[in-house]
Amino acid sequence: MKPLSLLVTLSAVTLAYSQQCTQPRQRQEWRTLNDDQKHAYLDAVVCLQNLTSNGYHDGAKSRFDDFVATHQTLTDEVHKVVRSHEQGQFLAWHRYFMKVWEDALRSECGWRGSLPYWNWSIDVDIGEFDKSPVFDPNTGFGGNGADQAQKTAGPFNNLTSLPDWDPQAQTGGGCVRDGPFAHYTLNIGPGTLKREHCLTRAFNPSAFSGITGQHVNNTLAQYPFELFRLKLEGDRHTPGWDTHDGGHLAVGGDMSNVYSSPNDALFYAHHAMLDSIWTQWQNVNSTDRMYQISGPSSVDDDAKQVTLDFVLPMTGLGDDAPVRNVMDIKGGFLCYIYV
Ligand SMILES: *[C@@H]1O[C@H](CO)[C@@H](O)[C@H](O)[C@H]1NC(C)=O
Ligand SMILES: *[C@@H]1O[C@H](CO)[C@@H](O)[C@H](O)[C@H]1NC(C)=O
Ligand SMILES: *[C@@H]1O[C@H](CO)[C@@H](O)[C@H](O)[C@H]1NC(C)=O
Ligand SMILES: *[C@@H]1O[C@H](CO)[C@@H](O)[C@H](O)[C@H]1NC(C)=O
Ligand SMILES: *[C@@H]1O[C@H](CO)[C@@H](O)[C@H](O)[C@H]1NC(C)=O
Repeated sequence: MKPLSLLVTLSAVTLAYSQQCTQPRQRQEWRTLNDDQKHAYLDAVVCLQNLTSNGYHDGAKSRFDDFVATHQTLTDEVHKVVRSHEQGQFLAWHRYFMKVWEDALRSECGWRGSLPYWNWSIDVDIGEFDKSPVFDPNTGFGGNGADQAQKTAGPFNNLTSLPDWDPQAQTGGGCVRDGPFAHYTLNIGPGTLKREHCLTRAFNPSAFSGITGQHVNNTLAQYPFELFRLKLEGDRHTPGWDTHDGGHLAVGGDMSNVYSSPNDALFYAHHAMLDSIWTQWQNVNSTDRMYQISGPSSVDDDAKQVTLDFVLPMTGLGDDAPVRNVMDIKGGFLCYIYV
C-alpha cells in the first residue's frame, strides 16, 4: 500500500507543479536560435501546411489554413476596423491564438521548441530592415516579394489618412520567391476572400517609425492599460505609426491585410514580439498591472467593457477561454516566458 500511496502523492504533486508552471517554455528572439532550431520551426510550419484541415471553415484545405480562417472569421471581433477604438480583447485574444498555434506545431508536427519572436527594432534601429535574419532564404522566412509596378497595400488601415505613408517607397509587392514558403498556395484571403494565391510581401519604410526601439519605449511608458493598448495596437485616428500596425505594414503584402495576415508565418513572430512588450509592461508592477484589462468588447456603439470573464472564441481550433486565463503567461493555463 505504501509505495502506491507514495506514487499517488507524487503524481498529484507533479500535476500541481505543472499547473503552477515551474518549467515555462522559453520564447527566444529569432536571431538567438541556432540554425537547427530555426529549421525545426520552419519545418514544423511547413508540416502544418501539409496536414489536412479540420474541416471547420469553408475554403480551408490545410491545418495552416485553419489558423488563417479563424483569424479571418474573428477579425471584426478582435480588431478595430469598424470603429476608431479597437476592442479590448485584442492583445488577450492574440496571446491565446499563439498558444494554440504553438501547441498545434508541437502536438501535430513533433516540434519541440517555443514560439520565436522577431524584434524588428534591432533591424530598424541599425537601418537594415531588409537584411533582417528573419528574411534569410535558407534560415529564415524568405525575403521581399518580387517587384511589381502597381503599388498596393492591404486594407490594414486607411493608409491615405496616415501622414507618412508613401506608396512610392514600397518595394516588392509580388510573390515571395525564396525561403520555405515560396511555392505554397494559400487558400484563405486575401482579405475576406477565399481564393488561391501566393504569399506576397511589399516592404515599406514608411511604417518603420512604429517599430523603433524609441517608439516601443514610448509605448511601454503608457499607463494605465487602456492607454497602453491603444498605443501598442495603433489607432487609425491617431496621426503617425504605432507598433502593431507598423510591423504589419513594414512587411506588407499578406502581412498588411488585417483579415488574412496569418498567411505570412511572420505574423506569429511579430505578434509574439507585441506579446512580449505587453508582458514587459505587466511586469513593471505585476501587483497592479497583471490583471488590468479594458476596452470595448465589440464594435457596437453600446458595447460593454471587456472584463476578465470575457470569453475568447477560438472557432474550433481550441476551447474558448476567459480572458482571465491568459493574463499571466506563467499562470498555469499558459506557461512560457520571454528570454
Ligand atoms: C510537405 O509536403 C511536401 C510535398 O508532399 C514534402 O516534399 C515535404 O517533405 C513535406 N514537408 C513536411 C515538413 O512535412
Ligand atoms: C528589442 O531591441 C531593442 C533595440 O535593440 C532593445 O532595446 C529591446 O530591449 C529589445 N526587446 C526585446 C523584447 O528583445
Ligand atoms: C481615408 O482618409 C482620408 C484622409 O483623412 C479621407 O479623406 C477618406 O475619406 C478616408 N477613407 C475612408 C474609406 O475612410
Ligand atoms: C529603451 O529603453 C531601454 C531600457 O530602459 C534602454 O536600454 C534602451 O536604450 C532604450 N532605447 C531607446 C532607443 O531609447
Ligand atoms: C505596485 O502596485 C501596488 C498596487 O497598486 C502598489 O501598492 C505598489 O506601491 C506598487 N509598487 C511599486 C514599486 O510601485
